[in-house]
Parts: sequence; structure tokens; C-alpha cells
Amino acid sequence: MTAPDAMLDTSPSVIPPAPIVHRKDLPPIRLLLGSIRNSLAIWPDYAFDMAFNRNTLFGVESALINDPQGVRYMMATNAANYVRPAMLPRLVRPLIGQGLFLAEGGEWRRQRRQLSPPFTPNHVNILLPHFIAAANDLVRQLEGQPSADLSDAYQMAALNAVLRALFSMPDQEERDRIGGLVRQYVTGPGRPQIFDAFARSETSFGFALGKRRAFQKRWFSAVDAIVAARRSAPHDAGQQDLLDLLIAVRDPETGESIATDEVRDQCATMIFAGYETTARLLFWASYLLTLDHGEQARLRAEVAAFPPERVATLDDLGHWPRLRRVLLETLRLYPPVPILVREPIEDDVIMGEPVRRGVQVYIAPWVLHRHRKHWQHPTAFIPDRFAGQSSPWTSGGAYLPFGAGPRICIGAVFALAEAQIMLATVLQRYTLAIEGKRPVMPVARLTIQPSYAPMFKLEHTPSP
Ligand code: HEM
Repeated sequence: MTAPDAMLDTSPSVIPPAPIVHRKDLPPIRLLLGSIRNSLAIWPDYAFDMAFNRNTLFGVESALINDPQGVRYMMATNAANYVRPAMLPRLVRPLIGQGLFLAEGGEWRRQRRQLSPPFTPNHVNILLPHFIAAANDLVRQLEGQPSADLSDAYQMAALNAVLRALFSMPDQEERDRIGGLVRQYVTGPGRPQIFDAFARSETSFGFALGKRRAFQKRWFSAVDAIVAARRSAPHDAGQQDLLDLLIAVRDPETGESIATDEVRDQCATMIFAGYETTARLLFWASYLLTLDHGEQARLRAEVAAFPPERVATLDDLGHWPRLRRVLLETLRLYPPVPILVREPIEDDVIMGEPVRRGVQVYIAPWVLHRHRKHWQHPTAFIPDRFAGQSSPWTSGGAYLPFGAGPRICIGAVFALAEAQIMLATVLQRYTLAIEGKRPVMPVARLTIQPSYAPMFKLEHTPSP
């Protein structure tokens, strides 16, 4: 297969921090503990050359698919045979109910068919003013500070952006209340526990699920109230949001609209799937730009030539090709979702290798994005490797920050538009640098988080 960067002629100058690669496999106990603490720090050197690997750890069998052909087979050709393992709904169901992320089979097909129209570029256009408003809130909040914890600031900003895009919500108190509930869950009852790892079904160890159930009640009634208020007082013509689009959806095959409970679950799904992922992308892109001052200066010039306040449609984002490449390269080096897990329903064969029913099958964008057969200078930050490619995740190659196949992220256009506007707005005002020399290491939790939250120095850019 052709490497996405086959024509690369840049020599690398910035090698961003990453955990060490081990000479050989870690012993079982270290591997188990390492997988819990930081699954980016467990990989042996050979993982970055091979196409398939099998492992058995304390009786649990797993397989790693590390090749585009295998990924295509598992995620597209025979996707119907692969489902998300039981641990995931235990953690996520209280937040998103029966929404798209956890749906399977015919129910998933129906939901995806109904939800796809609101995420087409035409509809994302409608959401751009919300992203611009969230970006302006962010820079207002940073105003006057010599330095800031951008990890936290981007979390708040991405939550703000998704809540504005979904519900308009100009009222800060209301946004804080809803955002506070989500953060409360992810940092509290939603954190994985030991029982989750050993659960055979979504409801095993029921005694450990009480706090999650209690949260679900409070959360659903909060989102229900927003949906009910909109149904009783629809928006007039003017600025629309995703909730308007979801209420207006009609199934292209059956003409059905989306039921009220399901509208709530889909809204909750978009908050869950869309906020932390995009916040991490913004953090790592900003961090990489502090390591590459030249690239940062070039981006600033690009943004000065077409300032964010001129953005009216997605096409306008084409004025920032360099910014897009930086985001694509950030998604390669620090993919917010570093690992995808599935279980086969039936025995299967992937790339000539038998894979039995119930085995945990992994695809690790973290590894595949640094694979030596598919990337030149795989550990280096070289945004130009994506020159001329605006959506490389659709090419079915070794680049899958948004997953692959029919279950590929529905929000990719949304996320990149939001990130472009947010980062452009920050770079228009500030030169970013890091205080101190301590490297920020990537740590895999639900997403790739920073090992600590560095303070970013914010030096005001003089107006042109
Ligand atoms: C940089 C930001 C984002 C990244 C890296 C990302 C990544 C991903 C990945 C890897 C998957 C596939 C998971 C799997 O196959 O197990 C996925 C699915 C999904 N994403 Fe995103 N995502 C991002 C932003 C968003 C946004 C902004 C939204 C919505 C507003 C969203 C909504 C979803 C949904 C609903 C799914 C499930 C799709 C299905 O199963 O059919 N994501 N995302």
C-alpha cells in the first residue's frame, strides 16, 4: 500500500514526546499494570513493524490488527460480525442511553441513516456561528492573563461549543450547569472500576452500578427539560442548532421522525462523543506548536491573511490549509481515541489468521499511526506530509483518528471545523509558549490526556 506521505522530502526537526518503546514484550504483570496506567507505554519495538499479533494475558485472549487491509476487513467488509465489548455500555449507557454510539445491528443502521443528514457539510455550515461564539468566549476568558492552563480552558471551550451547537444556550449559567453534570460523571461514577474489567454483561455486579443509575436519572431529566422546552417553543427562522435539525429529521426510507426519548439520547451522545475528543485535539495541537515556533509563525500569518471573523461557510476554512495540516498531523501523533476494541460474534479469519468468537480484537491508531511501513519519519511532527489531502481518514489507509468503515465518526467534519475556528481565534491573538522545559507526555485514559497540565505563556500578537 502507498504510504500517505510517500512524496515526503522534509527532514524531521521536531520529535514530540512519547513513552519509550520496549526492546521486547513486557512480562505479564507489568503488561497488565501498564495497560491500566497508560496503554501507550506498553508497546515493544516490533509492534511498529508487524501486521498482526496475538496475546494471552492471564487467560484473556486478544489480537491486534495492525495493517490497513486487516482494518478494512474488520471495520468494513465484515463489520457486522464485530460488536463493542460489555465494559463500554456499562460506562457509557448512563450518559447516552440508547444513542448511536452503543446501538448495534438493524437499530444502529436506522439511527445512522436518520442522523447522517444533520452532519453533512451543508448542515455543519449552520453550526459555524456557534463555534465562532464559543471561540470568542474562550479568548475573552484568556484576556489579560499572562499564562493559562489551556488543557482546562480547551475542555471548557469544547463543551461550550458542543452545547451551543446543540442547544444554542447563550446563557452561561445554564451551560455551566449541564457541563458540570457531564464533568461530574466522567470524573466520578463514570470512571472505570475493577468490576467493569471483569463484567461479563452490562448488568453484572449490579451492586456497583447504583451511583451510575442515580446520575442517569438526574442527567436525563436535565436534557429532557431542554428538549421539551424547545418542542413547546420552536426557534423562529434565524440561528438554528442541532436540536432543531434532530427534531426536523425524517427517515429517508420511512419518513419517520425521531422519538422524544431518542432525541434526548442522541443529544447526550453528541456531548459525550464530541467534547473531550475535540478538547484533546486542541490541546495537543497547541502543545506541538510550542515545540515548532516556525510552524506556529506560519500559521499566524495564514490566519492574519483570513481572520476568523470572516468565516461564513465551511469553504472559507479552505483559506487555512496549513492549519488543517497541523490538525491532521496532531491527530496522527496524538489520536484522541488511541485504541478501538471489538469482539467477534462468530469465529472469523482476518488476514489469514483465525480469530475466535469472544476474543478481544484491538486496532490501535496510536501504533498504526507510527508504523514504520506506512509512514516516513513516523515519530516526527511534519504537517506537510498531509499536503494536498483534506480528508485523509477516508482513504482506508493507515490513518484512522476517526475510526473506519460504516461506524466511522459521524462528527469528523463538525470536529475539524470547530477545532480550526477555535485554534485560529487563539493564534490570531496569542503567541503560545510553554513555561519550563518538562516534556508533556501522552497518557491513555478514555482519550489521550497530557501527563500534567502545563501553563502556556500567552504573548499578545500585535494587530497587523
Ligand atoms: C477530534 C474529535 C473526534 C475524534 C478524534 C473522534 C473519534 C471517533 C472515533 C475513533 C470513533 C469510532 C469509535 C469506534 O469505532 O469504536 C467515533 C465515533 C463517533 N463519534 Fe467521534 N470523534 C471526534 C468528534 C466527534 C464529534 C464532534 C461528534 C459529534 C458532535 C462525534 C460523534 C461520534 C459518534 C456519534 C460516534 C459513533 C458513530 C457510530 O457508531 O455510528 N465525534 N469518533
